[in-house]
Amino acid sequence: MLKPVYVFLFICAAFLFYSFSIYLNPPKSMGGLNQEELKAAAEGKLVWQKYNCQSCHQIYNLGGYLGPDLTNCIAQEGKGELYIKAMILSGTKQMPAFKLTDTEFTQLIAFFTAINKTGSADLRTFTVKGDGMIEGQEHHEH
Ligand code: HEC
Repeated sequence: MLKPVYVFLFICAAFLFYSFSIYLNPPKSMGGLNQEELKAAAEGKLVWQKYNCQSCHQIYNLGGYLGPDLTNCIAQEGKGELYIKAMILSGTKQMPAFKLTDTEFTQLIAFFTAINKTGSADLRTFTVKGDGMIEGQEHHEH
């Protein structure tokens, strides 16, 4: 007769084993990005948060709605890195200008590159994989 306490202990052991195996072997890549790209993107996300871009802009369709969604801005026709830099440095009537440092720009661009690879602003073109992750798609049109 299997005692409940053994079931409990087995589940605890399985949990610990799984947790350690994740910590010891972190995934080498996610969404087609290697660890270096993921690190740069993570730093860029902090820049994004520091200046509160999210209050007016969306990523993956989530965020404020004063400005446009920026998920695929880096790859859109006629936009890209220089366009983004110019937009941030000069601002518009509705968007304030921000004085980012060169390092912050580099990190922010890495963030934009990463989100473009891992998602589409157009919800109808998402591919949801079996594990619940979302497959990035090339997205060039507006
Ligand atoms: C107060 C609201 C506001 C904040 C904060 C803001 N933006 Fe904007 N942003 C806008 C608006 C509105 C537009 C559209 C401007 C226009 O067309 O005149 C825009 C446009 C842009 C564009 C061009 C998008 C496109 O598809 O043409 C980029 C890139 C951008 N913002 C980046 C940023 C970044 C990065 C930050 C944070 C550092 C930021 N914005 C913070 C309101 C904001």
